[in-house]
Amino acid sequence: MNDSFWQAAYIIAALCVVLSIKWLSSPVTARRGVFAGEFGMLLAVVGTLVRHEVVSYEWIFGAFVAGAAVGAPLAYLMPMTSVPQLTALSHAFGALAAALVGSAEYYKDVAAGDPTTGFKMVAIVIESLLGYLTTTASVMAFGKLQEIVPTRPMTYKGQNFVNLILFAIAGVLGVWMIAAPAPPWVFPAFTALSLLFGVLLILPIGGGDMPTVIALLNSYAGAACAAMGFALENRLLIIAGAVNASSGFILSVIMCKAMNRSFANVLFGAFGQAQEAGAVQTSTKPVRSASPEDAASILESARRVIVVPGYGMAVAQAQHKLRELTDLLNKRGVQVDFAIHPVAGRMPGHMNVLLAEADIPYDKLHEMEDINQDFAEADVALVIGANDVVNPCARHDKTSPIYGMPILDVDKAHTVMVIKRSMNPGFAGIDNELYYLDKTMMLFGDAKGFVGEIVKALSANK
Ligand code: TAP
Repeated sequence: MNDSFWQAAYIIAALCVVLSIKWLSSPVTARRGVFAGEFGMLLAVVGTLVRHEVVSYEWIFGAFVAGAAVGAPLAYLMPMTSVPQLTALSHAFGALAAALVGSAEYYKDVAAGDPTTGFKMVAIVIESLLGYLTTTASVMAFGKLQEIVPTRPMTYKGQNFVNLILFAIAGVLGVWMIAAPAPPWVFPAFTALSLLFGVLLILPIGGGDMPTVIALLNSYAGAACAAMGFALENRLLIIAGAVNASSGFILSVIMCKAMNRSFANVLFGAFGQAQEAGAVQTSTKPVRSASPEDAASILESARRVIVVPGYGMAVAQAQHKLRELTDLLNKRGVQVDFAIHPVAGRMPGHMNVLLAEADIPYDKLHEMEDINQDFAEADVALVIGANDVVNPCARHDKTSPIYGMPILDVDKAHTVMVIKRSMNPGFAGIDNELYYLDKTMMLFGDAKGFVGEIVKALSANK
């Protein structure tokens, strides 16, 4: 009875994992995707707890309390803008769990006088290598994002060579353990090298590239779990790990593409270096600034407005005020659409999540490829806290760190309004030529406060 229960629980849990990823791919079904993932996880845990191999529940209960004591406050207390850090930490814990299970399996067999070789050892080696390196790499990624560790790329001569040699030595030790029973020092040395490699891997990568690297680490953690599934002969772990590994990898490829960067460019830290070398910052050219009242009167006489949200909207939490503004403009017969750049903000889907939270209808949100040709027909492009994703230099300035990144063509709109607090650059650390165009009005202020002022001015103009 127990056996058929946990097997059924595992099959349904695996199905939930697959469906969850499928549903998460669209805002319309994303909520269902989250529930499917949570339900799948619950079934996996309950299924495991009823397995006859469990001899005592005390340790499991202790681990449950410790995990919940760390996880629950993190989930509740970390702000939305810190989700990349939170994700890095959760990968660190997941990868550490996989790596520790690998170590336990290794020593269990050694202690039983039966040092494992062959297929199970291949799985243990992959699981431990990826698990340990992902743990330290994720902790480093967390540190860089949280600015506990310096965010700039830390490089030195021959760095890639040193990293490669370390990885190769770990690989040789791994092959040794697979091929024949190895002396007792080999597994600890292999573990130490894997942990060290994780730290060194992240050193040359700039803090700004961390979200992409985190997607890649997600993929490594998934592969470690899949390997753990092979070591433990657990099909659920194999399926969930493989889904995690492939989805993390695909996500990092999508992010690289959206920033027009290659994997090598992200992993070897070229971006941060270019940023430092070119430390252009802002120009002294004049810009045209305007008041909320000016902005309100132009907006209400427009036929079509395209809103471009960016990281600043997330920082200011301006999405609810933006919803009010949209409603007011719609009532006046103005068509309002939202243009979403794939890497606007600091994590994939950042803008979609915030706008959905403010109940802005999904059909008003348009992906870059679908809306770019519409800017030429828009009366106003209203940029709210976005910077790099609308910087026209990405099209023509070959020296720019964002050269080649596809951007939203806001400069083609009749009038451009930009809400931000100052002339400070965005994430890439470069000046934005959009701000100096004759058609651009700079609306200086906090995004939430400024949009609120426009709403007030519009309401007063009834
Ligand atoms: P950014 O280029 O980072 O610009 C954000 C702007 O928001 C800043 O210029 C800032 O100007 C403004 N801002 C900050 N707080 C504000 C507030 N309270 N009110 C109003 N404005 C505020 O953002 P973006 O255009 O969204 O581009 C995203 C960047 O992140 C890209 O370079 C992208 O490659 C990178 N990136 C994204 C991801 C993902 S997955 N989304 C991952 C890695 C890297 P002030 O300081 O003057 O206000």
